[in-house]
Amino acid sequence: MKGIPGFFTEDEGRWYARFARGLVGGIFVEVGSWKGRSTSFVGPVCRANKTRLVCVDHWQGSQDMLADTYARTLAEEDVEATFRANMKALAIDVEVLAESSLAAAARFAEGSVGRVFLDGGHDPATVTQDLHAWFPRLAPDGLLGGHDYDEKHPGLVRAVDAFVEPRGLQVKRGPRSTYVLVTGVKQRPG
Ligand SMILES: C[S@@+](CC[C@H](N)C(=O)[O-])C[C@H]1O[C@@H](n2cnc3c(N)ncnc32)[C@H](O)[C@@H]1O
Repeated sequence: MKGIPGFFTEDEGRWYARFARGLVGGIFVEVGSWKGRSTSFVGPVCRANKTRLVCVDHWQGSQDMLADTYARTLAEEDVEATFRANMKALAIDVEVLAESSLAAAARFAEGSVGRVFLDGGHDPATVTQDLHAWFPRLAPDGLLGGHDYDEKHPGLVRAVDAFVEPRGLQVKRGPRSTYVLVTGVKQRPG
């Protein structure tokens, strides 16, 4: 949404809103929210659909290509407070888990989450850990998607591809670097 700085383009945001729209009730988890730019696209959809929106972020940045950018900002700004203020201004009711992705995943039962969107750590080891932690949490008709599946993030792409191949899943790409894992025509966003 215009106004909140971050890492999501408008067309990615529209796709992300469609990713959320198919879930009525249930639980939507976003891993990696930063100041809430991506969240601002799905928040109104979750509110309308009475979906529980959970944002997971330890607000410590990460050890990937954006590490220095995060560190500079975190040194001079309370980014978690900015996120919370941005959500309040948009009247987005969000449950915040200010902890690591893996700690947050352990809170959810297997098969319980309708949507998971991964935009936390982008290094291959973290992406692999996140996929292993969150994919089993998906409900039978649940979907897992993510951000930065593109040539600028070859390690992330390798990690996602290595996860899907032995499971008979496919990576269906949305605009720019968005993606969702699909098993067939049934599992598509929107
Ligand atoms: C690329 S930013 C998210 C951008 C956001 N989705 C947007 O639209 O602007 C990545 C975020 O993930 C968080 N993060 C990175 N690794 C994490 C981890 N393992 N657990 C929790 N949060 C993590 C960082 O603190 C950072 O806020």
